[in-house]
Amino acid sequence: MTNVADKIIVALDVATKEKALALVKQLQHDISFFKIGLQLYTAEGPEIVRAVLATGAKIWLDLKLYDIPNTVARAVESASTLGVQMITIHLSGGSEMIRAATTARASNMLVLGVTVLTSSTEQTLREIGINDTVENQVIRLARFGAAAGVDGFVASPHEIKILRAEFGDRIKIAVQGIRPNWADPGDQKRFMTPRDALEAGADYIGIGRPITKHAQPREAVAKILDELSN
Ligand code: C5P
Repeated sequence: MTNVADKIIVALDVATKEKALALVKQLQHDISFFKIGLQLYTAEGPEIVRAVLATGAKIWLDLKLYDIPNTVARAVESASTLGVQMITIHLSGGSEMIRAATTARASNMLVLGVTVLTSSTEQTLREIGINDTVENQVIRLARFGAAAGVDGFVASPHEIKILRAEFGDRIKIAVQGIRPNWADPGDQKRFMTPRDALEAGADYIGIGRPITKHAQPREAVAKILDELSN
C-alpha cells in the first residue's frame, strides 16, 4: 500500500542550491519526492538535480517544456539521462510535440502535461484566440494529450473529478494549489486542502510555501501528515 507521505511532493521554489539542499535535509525523513522548477533550475542547473537525486529522493522536473518537437524530445532525453522521475510539458504544443516527448523519455519516467495554467482565465484564453471556457480547453488539451501518450496531467484540484471521470485510472493526476486550513493562501485563489485533494482522487499533491516558508518546515509536514491520517 502506498504511504500517504509518498503522495506529497514539496516544491523547492528557492533561489540557491544551499537553500534547496537544506530543505531536503530537513524534510527527507518524511518526504521522498521534490519538485525543481524554473527558478531553481535556471539558477543552479542540472547540478542541483544530481545533488537532490544523490540523497535518494525522487524529482519532478517542472520545466513545462514547449518548443519544436525535436527540441522538446532532446530535452526529455537529457532529463532521462539525469534520472528524474517526472517532467512536465505544455500540451498546447500539440500532438506532434507531445508524441516526440513521450517517445523520447526513459521507460521509468513520467511525462505530465500542463493543460491551462492556473493563472489563466477565460480572458487570457480570448487574448490568445481561444473562444471557449477554461474547463472546455482543459478537456480538449487533455484528450489529445492522452491520445499522444502523456502519462498524466498537472491540474488544479478543482479539475481532478472531470479528468478522472474522463480518463479513469490510466492517467496520473498531480495537483498544486494546495493549502492546509492553517496556511496563508498567498496568491493561490482556487485552492483545496491536502485531504480534499486526495479524496477527490489526486495521485500527487505538490505543496510549496505552506511548508517551505514555514518557520519549521518539518513541523508543517508533520501537521499535514497528521491531518491526513485522522
Ligand atoms: O503556492 P505553492 O508555493 O504551494 O505552489 C507550489 C507550486 O504550485 C509552484 O511551484 C507553482 O508551480 C504552482 N502554483 C500554481 N498556481 C499558483 C501558484 C503556484 O499552480 N497560483
